[in-house]
Amino acid sequence: MAAPNIETIVSLAKRRGFVFPSSEIYGGLGSAWDYGPLGVELCNNVKQAWWRWMVHERDDMEGIDSSIILNRSVWKYSGHEETFSDPLIDCKECNSRFRADKLAEEVGEPVSGFDFIKIKCPSCGKTNWTEPRAFNLMFRTTIGAAAEEDDPTALAYLRPETAQGIFINFLNVQTTMRRKIPFGIAQIGKSFRNEVTPGNFIFRTREFEQMEMEYFVRPGEDERVHQEWIDYCFDWFKTLGVSSENLRFYEQPAEELAHYAKRTVDIHYRFFPEREDEERQWDELMGIANRTDFDLKAHSKKPEDAEGKRINPDSTEDLSYFDEATKERFYPYVIEPAAGVNRTVLAVLMDAYSEQVNDKGEKRVILKLHPELAPIKVAVLPLAKNKPEIVGLARSIKKSLQPSMRAVYDDTGGIGKLYARQDEIGTPFCVTVDHQSLEDEAVTVRDRDTWEQERVKVAELAEHLKQRLGIKF
Ligand code: GAP
Repeated sequence: MAAPNIETIVSLAKRRGFVFPSSEIYGGLGSAWDYGPLGVELCNNVKQAWWRWMVHERDDMEGIDSSIILNRSVWKYSGHEETFSDPLIDCKECNSRFRADKLAEEVGEPVSGFDFIKIKCPSCGKTNWTEPRAFNLMFRTTIGAAAEEDDPTALAYLRPETAQGIFINFLNVQTTMRRKIPFGIAQIGKSFRNEVTPGNFIFRTREFEQMEMEYFVRPGEDERVHQEWIDYCFDWFKTLGVSSENLRFYEQPAEELAHYAKRTVDIHYRFFPEREDEERQWDELMGIANRTDFDLKAHSKKPEDAEGKRINPDSTEDLSYFDEATKERFYPYVIEPAAGVNRTVLAVLMDAYSEQVNDKGEKRVILKLHPELAPIKVAVLPLAKNKPEIVGLARSIKKSLQPSMRAVYDDTGGIGKLYARQDEIGTPFCVTVDHQSLEDEAVTVRDRDTWEQERVKVAELAEHLKQRLGIKF
């Protein structure tokens, strides 16, 4: 089972402290969300799982953390200043604004050659549109205390992708780490896009977090390596417990490809299972692009164009690569798996959602999160909160576990209620301390998914839980 719709997760997320609407006490800020105590743990666990899988467990990977605000030239030569835009249209009757391509998609029409005259405005029902126009999605800011708002020399952008921070550091990383291609550079960080129609909870927001990797290969090997990464990334979501029934590949048609891409395959998740039209149930979780040598060439002081004119007069470096073995110099091709932290969080929450009826006939929500992702790994619950010896033992067990796993102590309800509370937030194990524990130095370990219970010696508890949680050290 998975969540029937995103609204179910929005309500759970707010009720249980995963995600709150941002700036709520001031009426909110459209499509901005704050991650609460459980949400921040879940995000951190997603990022750690990605970093371990992408960087630590491979021999061909380095990581970086580049700036959010980069020299404006980066966005000029990457093509973002010119092309990173969405087509916008306004309703002349009610002034509502829409992304033309999304509106076309909703009524099942191709974007190019689409006749907007026929579409009714979703807000007022009239058909009186402006012409579509390009709206650049980069957030603008100004640098320096003296800068005026419209001073072009002080203009800067908040990065709309983390990828460019990697390209401009290609030589720094390659030379300092003495890397030979093929190798990759990974980065996790915030990106910003002034989305025209953000929405669907944390699916599309203006501030979000990306997990991106640029893999540098010899031209000619790009197509094979691209396909390997497509399959490898799909499998990663499965190892996080996401059901393959809710995942699919989506080959981007030529008209959808970004200006730098030779081929892009997206991994879609079934974010909208409630929609009748099967095709509209899916949307992008991750994109895996073959960016060719576009970016490294674009940021290089070379090459010259056909007329001998320097293509990039502002860069001071040539980002080509010299192959010592073959004595060849060339621009590596780049394969880029790019995922969103927030969309991954949404997908794992939706996929983990399940409902079960207990022996009293009551409906219970159980979040069957992968143990590695669960915000809290274990809850220690005393069976009698007015018995100091039991409370003391429970608190000391919690303290002994917390260096190796996120543990909580809770005595604010009856045991049934405490179990239900932990099930709903995805805690894989509850440890119950009872009267018997004071005599046999053992506790009851209860499994979230099976509700089975087993007795474990306190002295063996940490090792027992680590093993069942898959914690390796
Ligand atoms: N460097 C390539 C790149 O940025 P993208 O497909 O635009 O590619 C990669 O973004 C991933 O970032 C997406 O698959 C999605 O998971 C996430 N993402 C993009 N825009 C987003 C937004 N407005 N809100 C939340 N996540 C977003």
